[in-house]
Parts: sequence; C-alpha cells; structure tokens
Amino acid sequence: MNRIPLILDGDPGHDDAIAWVLAAADPVFDIRAITTVAGNQTLDKVTLNARKIASLLNLDVPIARGREVPLLSELIIAPGYHGMSGLDGPSLPEPKREEEEMNAVSLMANVLEESEEKVTIVATGPQTNVASLLLSHPELKEKISLISTMGGGLRNGNWTSAAEFNILVDPEAAYIEYHSGVPLQMCGLDVTEKAMIYPEEWEKIREIDNPVAKTVAAWLDFFFIHLKQLGWQGATLHDPCSILSLSHPEIFAIQDCYVDVELKGEYCRGMTYVDGHHVLGKKNNCKAVMDVDREKFVELLIEARESFGGNHE
Ligand code: BDR
Ligand code: CA
Repeated sequence: MNRIPLILDGDPGHDDAIAWVLAAADPVFDIRAITTVAGNQTLDKVTLNARKIASLLNLDVPIARGREVPLLSELIIAPGYHGMSGLDGPSLPEPKREEEEMNAVSLMANVLEESEEKVTIVATGPQTNVASLLLSHPELKEKISLISTMGGGLRNGNWTSAAEFNILVDPEAAYIEYHSGVPLQMCGLDVTEKAMIYPEEWEKIREIDNPVAKTVAAWLDFFFIHLKQLGWQGATLHDPCSILSLSHPEIFAIQDCYVDVELKGEYCRGMTYVDGHHVLGKKNNCKAVMDVDREKFVELLIEARESFGGNHE
C-alpha cells in the first residue's frame, strides 16, 4: 500500500477531533506530526485538547504548538460551537506525551526535511501555521505534496455572510497559501455543509463498543446543541471532509478553479471568491471540493469507529 504521509494542523475543536480520528483509523495515512493553531479556542486550550486526542487514539507522534494569534488580525474564537475548553463534552484521557519544545513551524519543517516522500498537510483551522511555514521555508514547498484545507466557501460564509470562520480568523494567512503555488485542495462550506450526520446515525456510532466510538458520539451530541438552535437537522462535519476527500475522492465532486481571498471590504474580508468564468485569466490554483455522497460519507464514519475495536452492542 502506498501510504500518505500527513501532518495534522488544527484547532481541535469537535470536527477537527473527528477528522483526526478518521486519519488515525485508516492505514493509508502515516501521521508524522500534529501541530496546533489558535482558532476555535486559545492556543493553550486547543494544544491540550490535541494532546488528549492523541492519547485517546494511541497516537504517539510529536505535537507542537503554533502561533498564539493570527498573522495580522485579532484572534476570534468559537466557544458557542465548541465550548469553553474548545472540546466540551465527554471527558478525555490525560495526555501521555509532552509537547515538543520547538514550535509548530519548526516541527513541520523538520518533518518535511526528513521525509523521503512528499508530505500532505491537512489544515483544519486558521491557516496561520501553514502560511508561516510557506514564508519562512520556501525551499520546502517542493516537499509538500498537497495542502488539504477546510476553509472558505465559493457561495457564502458562516461567520459573516461572506466569510467562513477559518478564513475570517486569519485572511492574510489564507491569502499567502492561495498564492503560494503549492497544490491545494479546499473543502469549503459548499461541501462541508452537505457532509451532515443525523442524530439517529450517530446512535449507530454510540452502539460500537470502544472508547473512541463512544467519545465521537458524545462529541457529536455537544456539537449538535448549538447547530440545532440554529436550525440544522444534524451535525455538519466540516473538517472530516479534508481527510475523507484524500482517502475516498470517489465519493466527492472536485473541480479545478482559481480561488482568491478578499482582504479588504466592508462586508467581504475573509471571503474566498472563485473566478468561475475565468475572466481574471489566472491559472487554476486549487481543487475545490463541491459535493459529497452523504450516505457513503456516513458509512465511512461508522466504519472508521469500528476499526478501534469492539462489537456492536
Ligand atoms: C470551521 O470552523 C471551526 O469551528 C470548525 O472546526 C471548522 O474547521 C467551520 O467553519
Ligand atoms: Ca477546525
């Protein structure tokens, strides 16, 4: 099997955590490092969450924290969705592994330098660490096979009417990434709001007799509280799309396009806009994931939990 070397960069976060469960469950992925970025909660909180998730998943890989704040903007956090810890809900095992002394960018750079193969970066929070890496180590761009991001949307936003949360938190970072020339795959709201799991479906996950499955079901219970108040019928699994679109591209609709990031504007800062009719005459810079076979997506989520052992009760 040709394994895909991965760096997981995120701000866990319930859906980041579920994305990491999916990555750990699938032997096609070879997770080399975890790096954290301020976003859903402060850097201290998401870094502690990342270390606890690694313990839950028995993932013994280096973990390093990134920047405390976005490149230029003030930090925005999302306690309404993810709670005061950034990952409220079930209690998690204590961290087993200490954080690295080096920061996230140095850890990413080391992994890239030491790897014989190109490495994929899965970035499910603000793109602050990834942009810092691209700026400080341009010579390592050629070692990045793909940046698979959750962020943006080609039709609308979720934090403002134009901007999605991850891009709005650090638009300059996203801009640097979209202008870097590194292969980019974007899971924006176009697909992630379709990647929905309904309560009766995650009951099937809860029935699987292993601690990872029980924890995922409890994460979904918490994540759904706020979404339900907003009128959603299920939980929108944004970040897991950035993993499953790598391992199972056949269940997604993916299109090549040119996407840019708006940095100014009274209403549109942080908007990702697509040059759908190629009027700008720019080369395509990303693969935008636009749609998913929702039922197959949910089947894959359930199967992934089974890979951590146990039977259906
Ligand atoms: C994104 O924002 C965060 O709250 C989620 O973890 C996801 O990465 C969705 O807009
Ligand atoms: Ca996230």
